[in-house]
Amino acid sequence: MSLPSLFDPFQLRGVRLRNRVVMAPMVSDYATEDGEVTLRLISYYGERADGGVGLITIEATAITRNGRLGANQLGIWDDGQLHGLRYLTERVHGTGAKVAVQLHHAGRQSSFGARTGADLVAPSPIPSPTLPLSKPRELAAAEIRALVQDFARAARRAVAAGFDAVELHAAHGYLLNQFLSPFSNYRADEYGGSLEGRLRFPLEVLAAVREAVGPDFPVGLRISADEHVPGGHTLAESAVIARRLVESGADFIHVSAGVPGGHAPPEGPGDDPSSTVLLARGVKQVLTVNGLRAPVIAVGHVLRPAVARKIIETGTADLVAIGRALLADPLWVRKAAAGLEDEIRVCSGCRDCIHHERGCPPPSKTPRPQAP
Ligand SMILES: Cc1cc2nc3c(=O)[nH]c(=O)nc-3n(C[C@H](O)[C@H](O)[C@H](O)COP(=O)(O)O)c2cc1C
Ligand code: SF4
Repeated sequence: MSLPSLFDPFQLRGVRLRNRVVMAPMVSDYATEDGEVTLRLISYYGERADGGVGLITIEATAITRNGRLGANQLGIWDDGQLHGLRYLTERVHGTGAKVAVQLHHAGRQSSFGARTGADLVAPSPIPSPTLPLSKPRELAAAEIRALVQDFARAARRAVAAGFDAVELHAAHGYLLNQFLSPFSNYRADEYGGSLEGRLRFPLEVLAAVREAVGPDFPVGLRISADEHVPGGHTLAESAVIARRLVESGADFIHVSAGVPGGHAPPEGPGDDPSSTVLLARGVKQVLTVNGLRAPVIAVGHVLRPAVARKIIETGTADLVAIGRALLADPLWVRKAAAGLEDEIRVCSGCRDCIHHERGCPPPSKTPRPQAP
């Protein structure tokens, strides 16, 4: 049997990807203050789709106005936003790429909410370590059930807008992750306590989203497989979470790491798979041992094509997501596929695009309130 290659097509349920490179979701802040698509946003994604990416994942996209991370975050909470989202999916489809959207609620991590005094909600009334003066309030069970329906409505809009898949953002300390983690969930009711309790809200969201989009539409989740914070998840618990999610109908697991307030693992020169990529291998192994075949997406400091190729050829993961390297060079995939690696404008891993204005090089060094 021949080794899989980075540039082989990949079947994600009914969706055929032209290769195994995924654009990692990255908040651009290019939307309007009403969360609507702008021409700048369309051309930003269009450029990366022209550049050969197989699956573009549109950035964390707010499912409610209140759940926004920032003022110019893209939104999918209102039917009025569909028009722009349709233009976006058409632009990407015109290149031969497929396009997913990441559904997001920031919960206690809404820096916009903390700044403007908006109602900040969370599983438990504990501020994020990065927003220590904020006052999140504990969601009532009825409100949690209403949020499940907000996710489902957003997913229905994603289908109507022409997206090929949805990814639920259950990583990086946002609302779904807040419920999953003993670091942020201190509830004593059915939505907290044991792992089963902490899984309840994400599983209810998954079930409602599945019902909204139908059985054949790909639905996956992004998780922080190691939260890198005392009291948070490590791979052992996250692998169980991934297994439960797949057993409950998730079509793919996108393995990221870290939550705000934790420590980011050191990033080397980028010649070898990073520690975050190796978490994906751990998740994949646990799924395989349990007879589960859902694809796993690896991400994290994949800067050079050789590393991306190795991840696929060694079976470390099924798909590889690339973030900053695509900010630095939108043509990364096309150049890699043509053997023009020396012409790639290589991301240095400086992280300026995380801590400052988006873009590479960042247009300004105005500090952002928090990293995504
Ligand atoms: C500017 C920027 C914005 C980001 N926004 C998101 C986001 O919206 N959703 C998400 O899950 N991760 C987000 N991330 C994390 C990336 O998806 C990715 O996991 C991370 O950058 C590591 O991959 P890389 O080394 O290839 O960049 C963001 C990262 C950057 C640099
Ligand atoms: S700003 Fe730095 S980390 Fe971000 S894409 Fe550019 S070189 Fe890479």
